[in-house]
Amino acid sequence: MRCTVFGTGYLGATHAACMAELGHEVLGVDIDPGKVAKLSSGEVPFYEPGLGEVLRRNIDAGRLHFTTSYSEAAEFADLHFLGVGTPQKKGEYAADLRHVHSVIDTLAPLLDRPAVIVGKSTVPVGTAADLGARARALAPAGDAVEVAWNPEFLREGFAVEDTLHPDRMVLGVDRQRPGRAESELRELYARLLGEDIPFLVTDLATAELVKVSANAFLATKISFINAISEVCEATGADVTQLADALGYDARIGRRFLNAGLGFGGGCLPKDIRAFMARAGELGANQALHFLREVDSINMRRRTRMVELAAQVCGGSLLGANVAVLGAAFKPESDDVRDSPALNVAGMMQLHGAVVSVYDPKALDNSRRLFPTLNYATSAVEACDNADAVLLLTEWAEFADLKPEDLNDVVRARVMVDGRNCLDAADWRTAGWVYRGLGRG
Ligand code: UDX
Repeated sequence: MRCTVFGTGYLGATHAACMAELGHEVLGVDIDPGKVAKLSSGEVPFYEPGLGEVLRRNIDAGRLHFTTSYSEAAEFADLHFLGVGTPQKKGEYAADLRHVHSVIDTLAPLLDRPAVIVGKSTVPVGTAADLGARARALAPAGDAVEVAWNPEFLREGFAVEDTLHPDRMVLGVDRQRPGRAESELRELYARLLGEDIPFLVTDLATAELVKVSANAFLATKISFINAISEVCEATGADVTQLADALGYDARIGRRFLNAGLGFGGGCLPKDIRAFMARAGELGANQALHFLREVDSINMRRRTRMVELAAQVCGGSLLGANVAVLGAAFKPESDDVRDSPALNVAGMMQLHGAVVSVYDPKALDNSRRLFPTLNYATSAVEACDNADAVLLLTEWAEFADLKPEDLNDVVRARVMVDGRNCLDAADWRTAGWVYRGLGRG
């Protein structure tokens, strides 16, 4: 089959490459000529494990191309995916829909044959219906243009794996206008659906809500364990053991119960805020009031980390040398959007600390966002002469660190483990002060 994918960020580039991997002919479309040039030459403009290989394999096979031309895209296929970003609006909670609107406003006038537009971006409930009306009004093909919603649940760092092996497939269709979206997607995804992947067809609003509800639930689970971790700290209990014990209850499950510095990234923080904003517009703001608390527990982790850093540096950060290990919002990613680690690094600098940051993949992106921090080229270099070491993103190379790697590098043997990923006993035995979040 043939399809296009509009937007070539984490979501769109992965979707385009993976659809080609399934054997389809795919055209990725982006307004940024730099991105299109990079992708066309087989280079992924961000770090995503495994994506480069899939991209190059399919470019070489002649199944995958990229363009900036909307008319080429309209000509190329009658199935179009929408994978552009929906960031948080500046100064507000609501989602900024300018990119999805701009794709529809530019693409629809070029559609003179029946076409299916399938949204994958995370959008406020009601957006798909609006886009459908907008597309039908603008397209020469009119009512023969259909808009459906097929939310994407991929995690950064596992984007290829999650796209090719989804837990479930959700497709929202316009119940008032039965169309071809379901049959087109069942055919397109046939190879990855197999026998046992549930394919749930819903109305448009339900599909949009499934995605934001999933993210709200995950955020709530993380903030729940982080709230419990505050109580653990007050009583000397250990939140990691507590989470293990909770996790054995199959109704609860161990995943997303890792207490620490909390969630960041381009999805969970902005999605819960946009969800609250949309519920407010719909007159249901009380229903999601608890998400304010989820957000505030999460943000409190960051200020708690700054306080803890000051405490271990003798009461003040002024003039202290602090090493920060990790800048990406999570391991296996170079994404620093709303990164808890960088946020903490920036706050410590405002408190007068000399901060040296190291991350295996996110240094370039960090420099662009926080140009005044110091950046090191290795974990050991970042820890040189440090009064405290803060582990803020749990990259494997940090979780594997041993006290002897740093014993003679630091000025004071102080480790603050913001992701509870080190063995406290190892570090204490080697003469380090070890502090975790919620670990007694
Ligand atoms: C998330 C959703 O998981 C995914 O389904 C959706 O499509 C996009 O948003 P992503 O943002 O890539 O994916 O990262 P995820 O792995 O969910 O982690 C989000 C944040 O939560 C990270 O900052 C991570 O460090 C944090 N986290 C995760 C915790 O603090 N504790 C946990 O137990 C799990």
